[in-house]
Amino acid sequence: MASDYLNDVLCVDGVALPEVAENFGTPAFVYSAQTIAANWCAYDDAFGDRAHQISYAVKANSNLAVLGQLAALGSGFDVVSGGELQRLLAIGCDPGRVVFSGVGKSIQELELAVSCGVGSINLESREEALRLSEVAAAHGVRPEVSIRVNPDVDPKTHPYISTGLKENKFGLPIDEARALYLELQQSEILRPTGVACHIGSQLLDASPVRDAVEILVELVAELRAAGIAITRVDAGGGLGIAYGDEAPPSIGDYVAGLCEKIPADLAIEIEPGRSIVGKAGLLITRVEYVKKSEQKTFFIVDAAMSELLRPTLYNATHKVMAVRQARRGAEHFVGDVVGPVCESGDWLARNVSLAVNSGALLAICDVGAYGFVMSSNYNSRPRPPEILLDNGAARLIRSRESHGNLLLDELELFKTHQ
Ligand code: LLP
Repeated sequence: MASDYLNDVLCVDGVALPEVAENFGTPAFVYSAQTIAANWCAYDDAFGDRAHQISYAVKANSNLAVLGQLAALGSGFDVVSGGELQRLLAIGCDPGRVVFSGVGKSIQELELAVSCGVGSINLESREEALRLSEVAAAHGVRPEVSIRVNPDVDPKTHPYISTGLKENKFGLPIDEARALYLELQQSEILRPTGVACHIGSQLLDASPVRDAVEILVELVAELRAAGIAITRVDAGGGLGIAYGDEAPPSIGDYVAGLCEKIPADLAIEIEPGRSIVGKAGLLITRVEYVKKSEQKTFFIVDAAMSELLRPTLYNATHKVMAVRQARRGAEHFVGDVVGPVCESGDWLARNVSLAVNSGALLAICDVGAYGFVMSSNYNSRPRPPEILLDNGAARLIRSRESHGNLLLDELELFKTHQ
């Protein structure tokens, strides 16, 4: 997102953040429509005339306005739950452009997938293939499927977001995948037309993905020789972004690497999430107190781990910027940015140098992916609003939850038992 100080005030895409805070309150997630479009188009352009589908990973940011914007650009989608699929159906997205991934799809989720006609279902086990066969037979449909191969390559990322090693729960080892394809060749219900993998997230080096894709391409050759008509390879998502001084490959180089490895007679599918929306979002939060002790300074803000879980869950670093630039010569203090939640793990940034007082606004950067979607109501905190900056205007795309909302699912039940 294009953020810059104008007269010492942080502006994003030409919109001054204090104004956004004034209009919508804090904490608040703010997204840049321009950045989302630019990243999606960078993927699309990089494929040139290669047959491809960009299946945006809905889990990264599932706000309806974001999904609608991507659908309008021509995006496909990768979903991992019935709930994510319902979001796409709610905005009138073509289910034919949806890939359904995930290791534990329920019967109800598979029923929804086959009844609305998703483009492909990525199978992660033989048991799932059997379950899907039954569900599809009952609905009288013949869905296209890919098998998610676990290629056993090390993506060199945080262990919680590494998925392509044999000790991970995801996908099938190559031998089991091959055997399942041969079994599905006899199926009168499932149509195996793709091969898929996803080895991990926040990858800063593209070579493990290229290695994984090489393994998939070899498998495709074997399957084709056996008479199974595979038409597409799904390389998953995973391209990382720079939260600090990391230097991930560019979208263009990343796609070029895939195109080089995948023969031209196979369509290429990818499932990027973070690299499309991650840098398009920030979290505005207000300093409640600056608590200085001999040991330490704490900037206690009104956002918390309930809004942004990544720092405490993955030890992730998100840059923090003062929304109003400090006066020249102002005294800076080094401290931790923490929230009001009753956990010592409730921190958003550590050892940052700031010259701010109570009432000041801070922007926590690069939270467009896995920010709001991982938020919770812990400590009975209503989740913050989401705001989209588009064409110089700030538009509310999700309202702030209210305390009343949070009681809805319980209060009537409580009263009926009094
Ligand atoms: N496809 C599949 C099957 C996935 O499991 C994922 C992410 C993606 C695509 C999208 O990956 P991306 O392009 O966004 O890296 N909460 C963690 C990230 C978890 C990623 C889970 N799977 C975080 O905040 O870093």
